[in-house]
Amino acid sequence: MSYTIKTLNKISPKGLSKFGEGYVLDDNAANPDAILVRSASLHEVEFPESLLSIARAGAGVNNIPIDKCAEKGIVVFNTPGANANAVKELAIAAMLISSRKIVDGINWANSLTENVAKEVEKGKAQFVGPEIEGKVLGVIGLGAIGVLISNAAVNLGMEVLGYDPYISIDAAWGLSRGVKKAPDLKTIFEQADYITLHMPYNEKTKGTLNAAAFAQMKDGVRIINLSRGELVVDEDVLAAIESGKVSTYVTDFPNEKLINKPGVITIPHLGASTPESEDNCAEMAAKQTKLYLETGNIKNS
Ligand code: MLT
Repeated sequence: MSYTIKTLNKISPKGLSKFGEGYVLDDNAANPDAILVRSASLHEVEFPESLLSIARAGAGVNNIPIDKCAEKGIVVFNTPGANANAVKELAIAAMLISSRKIVDGINWANSLTENVAKEVEKGKAQFVGPEIEGKVLGVIGLGAIGVLISNAAVNLGMEVLGYDPYISIDAAWGLSRGVKKAPDLKTIFEQADYITLHMPYNEKTKGTLNAAAFAQMKDGVRIINLSRGELVVDEDVLAAIESGKVSTYVTDFPNEKLINKPGVITIPHLGASTPESEDNCAEMAAKQTKLYLETGNIKNS
């Protein structure tokens, strides 16, 4: 028996090697048995009758038409936890750059042409920013990524408030004892100095951070969004920055409204872009697909 796998985007060869013998990997296959995809949207794609499964090498599945797949009996996998460490590291970096004016400092230093050593000493006073130790971090979403970030933040001396409507905090895997449970979003909004989003994007979560949410937050709150751009209403976060409610918004979902705006730090969608994470995601996606094609068993981990 031979299976054809179509891969879209850059899927790590190390992960794909898990398919082994009996598998044909063909980017242009017209009638694949399975698709492996990273971020490309499949919403407009016509699926052939041959297609049995789609594996998303990543956490979010908003680039896959889930309802259409359910109707056609196509199994959809994602790779929960496989890129969690990479996203955790970027989230911690995002918190630090939102505090310490690192980006402004770099841009300013790069603009200097003469007497650089002297000028940077004179000018550094404009780039003072607070430490994160002792501050309150609100983590919205306690899946694999939210849990890793919560634990790391506790280790950095932050007070962490976690909220997830679907996971009891006691049940969240590996959650450090230092993390407190927020009963609702309002508690996070009212108490957090930093808020980081780690939830899926869907009709329920769209626009979670909107004008009404910002109005409940502390003045000068810093927002990190490495989940999906649509979770935050762009116009509302820009207005909240303008009014001083939000001090900094860091996101890896840049768009025309956000780019080059004061108080906004946009980076490319790099949360999962480490070789380790790319290998882990591809490996998990390959194993899930192989198991399903060969045995009909579904294992989404
Ligand atoms: C995810 O949903 O985990 C990320 O979008 C992964 C990626 O960047 O490919």
